[in-house]
Amino acid sequence: MSAKPPTSDAFVFFGASGDLAFKQIFPALQALTRKGCLDMPVIGVASTRWTVDRLRERARESIERHGGLDAAAFAKLSARLRYVDGDYRDEATFVNLRRVLQDAARPLHYLAIPPSLFASVVQGLARSGCATNAGVIVEKPFGRDLASAQALDRTLHESFPESAIFRIDHYLGKEPVENLLYFRFANAFLEPIWNRDHVASVQITMAEKFGVEGRGRFYEGVGAIRDVVQNHMLQVTALLAMDPPLGRGADPVRDEKLRVFKAIRPLQPSAIVRGQFAGYRREDGVAADSQVETFAALRLDIDTWRWAGVPFYVRAGKRLPLTTTEVIVELRKPPQAVFDDSEASRPNCFRFRISPDVVIAITARVKRPGEGERGEATELVAHQESGGDMSPYERLLGDALRGDGSLFTRDDCVEAAWRVVDPILGNVTPVFEYEPATWGPLEASRVLVDADAWHDPAPPPPSPS
Ligand code: BG6
Repeated sequence: MSAKPPTSDAFVFFGASGDLAFKQIFPALQALTRKGCLDMPVIGVASTRWTVDRLRERARESIERHGGLDAAAFAKLSARLRYVDGDYRDEATFVNLRRVLQDAARPLHYLAIPPSLFASVVQGLARSGCATNAGVIVEKPFGRDLASAQALDRTLHESFPESAIFRIDHYLGKEPVENLLYFRFANAFLEPIWNRDHVASVQITMAEKFGVEGRGRFYEGVGAIRDVVQNHMLQVTALLAMDPPLGRGADPVRDEKLRVFKAIRPLQPSAIVRGQFAGYRREDGVAADSQVETFAALRLDIDTWRWAGVPFYVRAGKRLPLTTTEVIVELRKPPQAVFDDSEASRPNCFRFRISPDVVIAITARVKRPGEGERGEATELVAHQESGGDMSPYERLLGDALRGDGSLFTRDDCVEAAWRVVDPILGNVTPVFEYEPATWGPLEASRVLVDADAWHDPAPPPPSPS
C-alpha cells in the first residue's frame, strides 16, 4: 500500500467501548499504524467512565483476540490514544473533544454507535466546531427504509457536505468484491457477452451456516432484507450489472451503480419469498410469534437495454448448510445440438466465489477422451488466497483518512437501493419456516422463472496441508 499523506489529521471514534471497536476498529488501527498510515492522534469517545489506560487495555485485548499484537505498532498506537468520556447528548462532551483535538484541523469522526444517537452526535460536533473541515464515517444500517434513510441524510448534511460523509458497507472493502469490478473492466473479452444476448440469468447466494449468534434482539428489528439484501447484495448486483465507469475516481463508479439501482424494478410480493429457520423464535430477544425473516430469495428485474429480460436472483440466509458467498452468471445455451450428447447443451457459467475462498471460474464442456462425442463439465479456475492480508475495515478506514470515497456508498445510491426493497418491507409477504442446514424453504423456487433452478454452492475444497 502506498503511504500517501492522509488528508485527515486526527481520528476520533465514538463508541470506543463497544463491540464494533473491539472486533474491527482497534485491529484496523494497529494495521494502519504498522503501515505508517495513522500518524495522528486517535481519540476514543465513550460514556463508560473509562480512562485512557482502560482504553489502551481494551485495545490490547481486542487486537490480541482479533489478528494478534505487533509490539512495535501497538506501542505507537497506544501512545497516540486519547480518551474523552461523556454523554453524547451533553454539549460538554464535545467541548472537551475539541480541546483534546488541540490544533487538529481536519478530524475524521467515526460514529460506531447506534443510529438513534447519530443526530445528537452530529449536532454536538457542529456546535463545538469539531465538524469544521471534518469528515464523518457512519456504519450501516443507513436508515431502516427509504423515509428514515432520507431523514438520516438530512441530519448528516446539516453539518457535513456529502463529500465528507463515508458510509461503510464493509462488503465494498472486501478484496474479492473489488475484484468483480476489476475483472469486468480490466478484461476486454467479457464486455461483448455481458448482456441479455448472452447471459441467461445471474444468481447471488450469500449463505451463512451460523444463526443470529446472540444478536436476536438486534436482528428482530432488522431481518435479512434490511441486514444484507438492501446493502451487501444490491452492491454486488450493481457491480455485476453496471456499465463501465466514465473515468476514474469515486464518482464515476458510483454514478454507474446509481443507474443500476434506479433501473431495478421496485420489488413486488411475487418476486420475493421470505423464510425463518426453525428455532429462531427460541433465540434470546426474539418474539415467540416473530415474523422476521432470516432468509430471503428474490428476483430482480433490471430495466435497461443491457439486462432486459435477464433475471438476477438473490438468496441470503442464516443457518444454511455452509458459509459462503457465490455468484453464478449463466450464459445462454448453444443454439443447436451438434453432438449426440444430451449434456452438451448445458450452459456455460462464470462462477465468482467471494468468500470464504476466492475463485473466478468458467465452466465449460470438454470432450471425454475416447470414442463417441460425450463430454464433461470442467472448470477453468483462477483461485486466489483469501482476501490478502488487509481486512475490509483497514482498507476502508485508510481510504476515509485519505478522503477517498470510492468504496463508500453515496446518499443517492443508498436511497435508490431502499426504493427497490421498500415495497416488500415488513410483513407484506408470509414467512416460511425452514430446517437449519437446508437451503431455505422449498417455496424459494417460486421466484424462479422458466426452467431456472437455484445453484447451491459447494463447500470449498480442503486446503492443502
Ligand atoms: C453484516 C450483517 O453486515 O454482514 C451480518 O449484519 C452478517 O448479519 C455479516 O453476518 C456478514 O459479513 P461477512 O464479512 O462476515 O461475510
